Amino acid sequence: MEGVNDVTPTDQDWLVDFRGVELRRGGKTLVGPVDWQVELDERWVIIGPNGAGKTSLVRMAAAEEFPSKGTAFLMGEQIGKTDMRDLRALIGISSAAVQSRIPENERVDDLVVSAGYAVLGRWREEYQDMDFSRADEILAQVGATHLKERTWGTLSEGEKKRVVLARALMTNPELLILDEPSAGMDLGGREDLVGYLGDLAMDPDAPAIVM
Ligand SMILES: Nc1ncnc2c1ncn2[C@@H]1O[C@H](COP(=O)(O)OP(=O)(O)OP(=O)(O)O)[C@@H](O)[C@H]1O
Ligand SMILES: [Mg+2]
Repeated sequence: MEGVNDVTPTDQDWLVDFRGVELRRGGKTLVGPVDWQVELDERWVIIGPNGAGKTSLVRMAAAEEFPSKGTAFLMGEQIGKTDMRDLRALIGISSAAVQSRIPENERVDDLVVSAGYAVLGRWREEYQDMDFSRADEILAQVGATHLKERTWGTLSEGEKKRVVLARALMTNPELLILDEPSAGMDLGGREDLVGYLGDLAMDPDAPAIVM
């Protein structure tokens, strides 16, 4: 990979430490070069017009995309020098891409409970009672308890957003990445979500949040 050298992160407490990071596709630079650090207790909002590169940037922060240039550390591990699956286990993400990978017939409760196992679209395996009670708790927090027994394909856009948010929170991630978490939600749904995210942002035990 171009530009990836052996460097150590300057501060181990940074969840995201990007230095001169660029993402290129088809000869075009989609993001960067960007220097960006996210600390444990920070809440970030990324704003920009369509096509500005917001999704591309957060995909790198979610260990879903390798930078084409520069050095990127997530939780002190250098992307490209560590197993991305280990990193992904520490990151909760809600995005259109995550949604599109969910099979239509997946049950909501299975979808949330399976998050800790990084499994999508598989029947319940050896989940613990503890996992089910945590899933119940989180579904209640995002106002989706009533959707528990529904299948993914039958949910409305706003309902889907709540469920992927619950899934992202299930693993108790260190970093929570929400790419347009309210897209497709109605006014009431947005208000509920903003209220919920506001509470989460104020909670000192909540993960670092990038929206
Ligand atoms: N694989 C690719 N090849 C070429 N161009 C791409 C590729 N993926 C994304 N792009 C382009 O990169 C730019 C940034 O896309 P990105 O999805 O990051 O933007 P965004 O800020 O999230 O936009 P939006 O607000 O519409 O979600 C866009 O112009 C997009 O068309
Ligand atoms: Mg986007």
